Amino acid sequence: MKILNFGSLNIDYTYQVPHFVRAGETMSSNSLGVFSGGKGLNQSIALSKAGAQVWHAGAVGASDGEFLIRELEGAGVHTDFIFHTEGQTGHAIIQRDPDGQNCIMLYGGANQKIDREMADRVLENFSEGDFLILQNEISEIAYIMEQAHARGMKIVLNPSPMDEKIASYPLEFVDYFLLNEVEASDICGMGQEEEPQKLMDELVKRFPDARIVLTLGGDGSVYRDGDKQLRQGIFKVPVVDTTAAGDTFTGYFIGGLQKGQPAGEALRYAAAASAIAVSKAGAAPSVPDRAQVEAFLQERNE
Ligand code: RIB
Repeated sequence: MKILNFGSLNIDYTYQVPHFVRAGETMSSNSLGVFSGGKGLNQSIALSKAGAQVWHAGAVGASDGEFLIRELEGAGVHTDFIFHTEGQTGHAIIQRDPDGQNCIMLYGGANQKIDREMADRVLENFSEGDFLILQNEISEIAYIMEQAHARGMKIVLNPSPMDEKIASYPLEFVDYFLLNEVEASDICGMGQEEEPQKLMDELVKRFPDARIVLTLGGDGSVYRDGDKQLRQGIFKVPVVDTTAAGDTFTGYFIGGLQKGQPAGEALRYAAAASAIAVSKAGAAPSVPDRAQVEAFLQERNE
């Protein structure tokens, strides 16, 4: 069973700021870091570091995205399905405040130039039982989902960042959802104040055949598979930068399942990996490897 992650590759420009810029304000930043990122790339790196065999498909610009490909290769990710398109690689402008929280503005660039022909060229290398992982930062997602479903692939969707396009995707084909409360509320058409359990119950009603991981920020995460529900808390650590914490969680959870971990164990590893990620600066560079996650769990006597 192979894992294909068809997702974004971004250059992250991370500015350390005293507070997020307000409307009409001009503000100096304290520092700038340039990191490899993109939800797709981050998740591929986390999957690979968790021990999974992963192929990343996506696109970078003609000349500015080579270091992203090298970063993936350095982490053991297969990069045969990364295209070069005219124009720029996607990028993110990230403000990071003193509490390590962020706000992110994206420029899609090459990520939004994925077309159906590219999708077909990639998908013909995968077949029944292989996993397809998707976020919401590339073009032609609905088409990719339809073609992957027709091939019998298992579809994992992290509907992030949430936007109006998500409702037009064939969500009934999704086998695993990994999403936060805001994303769950939007998909279910429910209010943002809804209780997490109600959100989960509504998701299960709408997608009875899917397995669902609902992440709850400081309250951890909940996993549901039919009638079985599991909870996992967070590991408290000093927060440096929350960028890619969710991507690390997704990669470790799915990577753990691929390695044969039961869902509860995969959740525990995912929670530990994302705790390590928030204690370091940057997106992809903050994703820990499996040995670090195991050492962390041992230290915590878990
Ligand atoms: O999830 C974090 C990622 O979101 C960043 O690396 C940025 O590139 C955006 O895609």
